[in-house]
Amino acid sequence: MTMNQARPAGVETPTTFRSKLQSKTAQIGVIGLGYVGLPLGLLFARNGFPTTGFDVDQTKVDALEKGGSYIRHIPGTAVSEQVEKKRFRATTEFALLEAMDAILICVPTPLDRHREPDLSFVRNTSEDIRPHLRRGQLVVLESTTYPGTTEEVVLPILEQSGLKCPIVPYTSDGSRVVAPAESQADFLLAFSPEREDPGNTEFQTHQVPKVVGGVNASSALAAQALYNQAFDKTVVVSSTRAAEMTKILENTYRCVNIALVNELKLLCLRMGIDIWEVIRAASTKPFGFKPFFPGPGLGGHCIPIDPFYLTWKAREYEFPTRFIELAGEINAAMPAHVVASLRDALNARQQCLQGARILILGIAYKKDIDDLRESPSLRIIDLLNEKGAKVDYHDPYFPRLHRMRKYDFAMAAVQPTAEALASYDAVIIVTDHSSYDYDAIVRYARLVVDTRNATQAVQEHRDKIVLC
Ligand SMILES: NC(=O)c1ccc[n+]([C@@H]2O[C@H](COP(=O)([O-])OP(=O)(O)OC[C@H]3O[C@@H](n4cnc5c(N)ncnc54)[C@H](O)[C@@H]3O)[C@@H](O)[C@H]2O)c1
Repeated sequence: MTMNQARPAGVETPTTFRSKLQSKTAQIGVIGLGYVGLPLGLLFARNGFPTTGFDVDQTKVDALEKGGSYIRHIPGTAVSEQVEKKRFRATTEFALLEAMDAILICVPTPLDRHREPDLSFVRNTSEDIRPHLRRGQLVVLESTTYPGTTEEVVLPILEQSGLKCPIVPYTSDGSRVVAPAESQADFLLAFSPEREDPGNTEFQTHQVPKVVGGVNASSALAAQALYNQAFDKTVVVSSTRAAEMTKILENTYRCVNIALVNELKLLCLRMGIDIWEVIRAASTKPFGFKPFFPGPGLGGHCIPIDPFYLTWKAREYEFPTRFIELAGEINAAMPAHVVASLRDALNARQQCLQGARILILGIAYKKDIDDLRESPSLRIIDLLNEKGAKVDYHDPYFPRLHRMRKYDFAMAAVQPTAEALASYDAVIIVTDHSSYDYDAIVRYARLVVDTRNATQAVQEHRDKIVLC
């Protein structure tokens, strides 16, 4: 028996659920087939479980049913193999939820226009599950959210079905439940934060330990038993709140540390010190230092958003989350800093921003991925437009920009050929995609504003480069 499987006498995962897991007949349902839900569903399918993906987006469901993928780093073959083996199917038909033994919720958790948590997707999904909830089913929320969501938002909606899942405290030593107060639950409810890192080639989904916390001991054990089937390691915490807070801590840690290096970068620029050289040198310390890198601002679905879920919840406790607020302020100021650096560099060449032709390289929020949510490039384009610059862009992952929640640029990508690069007053490297030829960019462009130190290996024409 491994550490993960160890279970003291008297604490039992519901028997039918456990035996279905052992025989790999447990039906797994994943709701929300985006960057998180699709790889998760495919992981269970690859591990031999009949898996059904649910989504409200018919185009995604159609693509998957045809054995195709709409996420660049997930190859079509990863989907088609499982569809052909009849281990994976996708549907918009939520009545099929009734047949599921485990339902994993992976829907978006954005901020609304007042920068407050928008839990409408989580609420709608809980309401979609409610009429199909049945005894013995395990429901797990995976969407990132503030501590309390599973018990305060999801549980009451599911219990309107008449089935109950009582909140019963239990304790855990990290790998197993040790002191349960056993409950008579009709269904099981847990939280397990998703730790997907799109584009990360070092760790595959199953290698990243899965944290789980239950509304009661039975729920925690059921969630642990489930994830043990597909993940190398599970970590059990003593409540859904602790599991929810774990994810927020991870993302706040990144947000705050990125803000720290962004602030130090501003100081280093004034002091004539190369911040990237300093971070490289500090990284040689084998303990007590983890490198974070400055950039044009935060992007993605997680780091710019999740900490503010906690800030919102903390208000209920009259507690100001000062670190988060300050980090948010510093990181949010970075796009304006990029534009100011460009303005100063043009000024030094007796040019002004108004009417200048600017080429943005990279729209994705980080390198080598096809995700532009909250990307700082979008804010930079917006600021440049406000100042009267004429902006074009290139990104190998985005041939066109479509209407987004906040922006509607309706632009098509310009290929960064030698002639094109030379025709702009300045090029801004916002995303350091690996496919870019940085030597050529510096050779042909008139001025290069580099927000990522992507040009560090370029030897020639360094006088054209402005690090910012
Ligand atoms: N993308 C990441 O890197 C990442 C990493 C860790 C955690 N998360 C968290 O995971 C959650 C999902 O993020 P994502 O990046 O996969 O989002 P996404 O936008 O890529 O995918 C969400 C999917 O949910 C679907 N959906 C929306 N409402 C639905 C409903 N009512 N029923 C069924 N499907 C519905 C959408 O059509 C979409 O396909 C969020 O809470 C996010 O914070 C994301």
